[in-house]
Amino acid sequence: MFKFIGLIILGAALLGLIAGGVHLYKVAARNKKEMAPYAGSRAVYSNQLGKVLVVYYSLSGHTREIAEKIQAQTGAELYEIKTAEPIGRNWTMYLAVRQQLKKGNYPLLDGELPDFAAYDTVFVGAPVWWYTMATPLWSFLKEADFQGIKVVPFSTQGSNYGAFFEDFAAHARNARLLKSASFNNLPEKYDSAVDNKVIEWLNSL
Ligand SMILES: Cc1cc2nc3c(=O)[nH]c(=O)nc-3n(C[C@H](O)[C@H](O)[C@H](O)COP(=O)(O)O)c2cc1C
Repeated sequence: MFKFIGLIILGAALLGLIAGGVHLYKVAARNKKEMAPYAGSRAVYSNQLGKVLVVYYSLSGHTREIAEKIQAQTGAELYEIKTAEPIGRNWTMYLAVRQQLKKGNYPLLDGELPDFAAYDTVFVGAPVWWYTMATPLWSFLKEADFQGIKVVPFSTQGSNYGAFFEDFAAHARNARLLKSASFNNLPEKYDSAVDNKVIEWLNSL
């Protein structure tokens, strides 16, 4: 009996490993295809976005990297969304966040909102959590009123941004939305392609 149960557990684990491997392979192939158009020589930023602010939330640094790339091109000021209590980074956090998203129970934020009216263009970026915006961005949008200025959303994610941009559009009060962009987490070899993707996106706004 125990031998039988053991075999079932082993079989399930093996299937899980194979499914995980296939998923990773597919994501890598899709990233390669998506980033191929950005592989050429360095793009040049040529847009005029006026006074720029980049609002971002980042738990593990990926979104901050994109925020800093936008800053490097546009000379933007950065505003980091911070939670009043630290958000842990262990596996229980995944489940806690899922519950918070289900219940609309978002974390309290620390600090004053920026004065949006002082800027011509405001970028707003965050990680994708459970196929939508990270909970601190939900908290931020509950408080923010963009007062009719140009707002450019961006996301970072493993591979699937889900409803991030629909949710953003539905909750960004009085925002004049410009073209969004999403950035998968990529290995270092894509660094210059990511720079080009950022620059081409900025030029297209
Ligand atoms: C709670 C949680 C849920 C996540 N859900 C998704 C998801 O639905 N889709 C996805 O592609 N990546 C998902 N990720 C991965 C993050 O979106 C990705 O690593 C992101 O770039 C992290 O940004 P940061 O380093 O700025 O925090 C999730 C990560 C966490 C912590």
